[in-house]
Amino acid sequence: MKIPAKTVARLERLARRAAAASYSPYSRFPVGAAVLAGSGKVYAGCNVENASFGLCNCAERTAIFSAVAVGERKIKCVVVYTPTPVPTAPCGACRQVINEFGPQAHVVSICDSGQCIQTTLDALLPAAFGPDNLG
Ligand code: THU
Repeated sequence: MKIPAKTVARLERLARRAAAASYSPYSRFPVGAAVLAGSGKVYAGCNVENASFGLCNCAERTAIFSAVAVGERKIKCVVVYTPTPVPTAPCGACRQVINEFGPQAHVVSICDSGQCIQTTLDALLPAAFGPDNLG
């Protein structure tokens, strides 16, 4: 399903804004994300780091978990903003989490230049392991 340009633009604004709330004192790499969920509502999130480094949570997962925590079960589009000159695609862990709720999701990466990546979860994580594999 095509995501309307107006909706993507709204998600982009929210992702950039969410980065301002990032808790990233260790990496100093503030990331923001926004997702379009099955209900049509949007949810934003930022990366949340921890002194125990392995517990850091990416912006994409914060946004998706916020959506799921209020009952959403489908993710249609993910927009991630990184403070970089070139756009970066979601990490492997986030791809797996996106797959759980949005195997067909559109994934858009934006940054501090005009460059952006527009792709799909399917292209980022081919032959994914998911709920169906558990029978
Ligand atoms: N990070 C994200 O939040 N999303 C990404 O797509 C890439 C990485 C965070 C994790 C960590 O807090 C910081 O960026 C540096 O890796």
